[in-house]
Amino acid sequence: LDIAQRSSTGSLPPADDIADLVVRAHARYADVNEGRVADYIPILAEADPARFGLSIVGVDGSAFEAGDVGVEFSIQSISKAFVFALVCEEIGHEAVHELVGVNNTGLAFNSLIAMELNGGSPMNPMVNAGAIATTGLLPAESSEERWRRVREGLSRFAGRKLALDEVVYRSEAETNHRNRAIGKLLQSYGRLDPDPLETVDVYTRQCALSVTAHDLAVMGATLADGGVNPITGEQVVSAAVCRDTLTVLASCGMYERSGEWLFEIGLPAKSGVAGGIVAVSPGKGAVGAYSPRLDPAGNSVRGQRACAYLSRALGLNLF
Ligand code: DON
Repeated sequence: LDIAQRSSTGSLPPADDIADLVVRAHARYADVNEGRVADYIPILAEADPARFGLSIVGVDGSAFEAGDVGVEFSIQSISKAFVFALVCEEIGHEAVHELVGVNNTGLAFNSLIAMELNGGSPMNPMVNAGAIATTGLLPAESSEERWRRVREGLSRFAGRKLALDEVVYRSEAETNHRNRAIGKLLQSYGRLDPDPLETVDVYTRQCALSVTAHDLAVMGATLADGGVNPITGEQVVSAAVCRDTLTVLASCGMYERSGEWLFEIGLPAKSGVAGGIVAVSPGKGAVGAYSPRLDPAGNSVRGQRACAYLSRALGLNLF
């Protein structure tokens, strides 16, 4: 990348610089047409590949945006990060470490082999097995209550009530045989107490919540801000939970590409197959990106490049 790494001053650069660099990042990658729109969930194949939105929200609530930042898409795997934070808040650091794990699998996000090779451990909360186990750990009397808690919790991160995209939910619910197998495998290893198919259903709903690139930036900025939503001022989770969540995002958030991502971009981040990415710069803010064309690991191509550019140009890198 032919752009110098800005040194970190511990806070975001001046507002004019950020506003200018977001527009530049958008212009620079808008014509990149590499990658493919996900189609293993049938409805996702209908996404417009030209969409591209970038949003940066600072811990002071300031926002800097370019492109399609108001377009809604399904949050997909990015939900895993925020459900994990909610569950950490409920059951604590030790319990999630023991019950879910925090190490990268080095394998695809929907791998069953990763569990079998590791004595039934779901390995980490950012792959499907660990995310389904994590959703099952959210205290609730019924699946309906669990879903309500997930939706309300993610809405507090976004600072607005998030809606379920029924069409995406149905499309995935009709085709998610592999995730149901993961739920059953978790049950067989004694790793899932609630009903496995109902838990997979809650997980499928959480993945079908509609967000925008702006929402992702606000959600990420809440993690950057010790759990305080910079727009609403609400303490959504504790500072300790933000630390736990960001460490798992750094090691596992970009799947089997997490090491390369950290090497090149240097920020805890999470991607989803609809084309969203959230990248968090603790104490400063977060980048929310949306563009549907994905690389083979399932990460948005334009989103990754824009995050790399912004990380360098704004001095966001942790290291
Ligand atoms: O479980 C699934 O397959 C989807 N609901 C989410 C997968 C996903 O976003 C993986 N991401 N890159």
